[in-house]
Amino acid sequence: MGDFSRYKGDTDRVTTRKFRRFKKDGKKIAVLTAYDYPTARILDTAGIDCILVGDSAGTVVAGYENTLPVTMDEMIFLCKAVSKGAKRALVVGDMPFMSFQKSESDAIENAGRFLKEGGAAAVKLEGGSEIAPLILKMVDFGIPVMGHIGLTPQSINKFGGHIVMGKTEKQKSYLLQSAKALQDAGCFAIVLESVLPDMARAITESIRIPTIGIGAGVHCDGQVLVVSDMIGLFEDFRPKFVRAYADAAGLIRKAAKEYIDDVKNGRFPGDEETYK
Ligand code: KIV
Repeated sequence: MGDFSRYKGDTDRVTTRKFRRFKKDGKKIAVLTAYDYPTARILDTAGIDCILVGDSAGTVVAGYENTLPVTMDEMIFLCKAVSKGAKRALVVGDMPFMSFQKSESDAIENAGRFLKEGGAAAVKLEGGSEIAPLILKMVDFGIPVMGHIGLTPQSINKFGGHIVMGKTEKQKSYLLQSAKALQDAGCFAIVLESVLPDMARAITESIRIPTIGIGAGVHCDGQVLVVSDMIGLFEDFRPKFVRAYADAAGLIRKAAKEYIDDVKNGRFPGDEETYK
């Protein structure tokens, strides 16, 4: 078989197509967020399948109370940096609050910016069956879309807080119907956030595209965490579903204390850090 690809890096790159194959083959998908070049590079070389440039940047990078203030320009800046660092992983840009709700043309233009300017290969939109017609258009125009249902943080004011989804019959039927509608609209994957594990399992078994869980139990086809939570960098709060694999905050604080001590006591810079 010859190589028919005209595009640089096509062979090893994780693609939206490969996502569907992962599910078919029963291979779990590992996703993390990132917001800058060095982190993206580290995650990429560690073998992560997908990097989500999440609007969680609003809380874990900018220190806002929630994700609502994040703008398109801020997301594009972060996405550009992440795309530079991700050579293999699929990069997905998260469409911020009010970047896709105003009008269809606005939504498509903003989604396109993630691919044209941000270097992403796909976008993520929060919402269920009500945004399926919009997603269908985006996919038709060549913009791959990752769905996001369950707890959708951009609707925090509608929900009245961070609540677990899939408890009531109404929520259950909305979630199942939305997952199917997003699949039919052409989504290549769907994030399930804060969904009861039985519900997440039922959704995962009812659709052909992979589900990526966050606080949705072990039965999803993949998992996503916010990198700042996963490395123990973000200290303001830690949701129950987070596992901290490192103590980055402790490491940085310890290094900063040593540096401060060295500067104050004239031990930095030393001879080896001084031009001669
Ligand atoms: O913004 C984000 O990081 C997300 C993930 C938590 C799924 O949407």
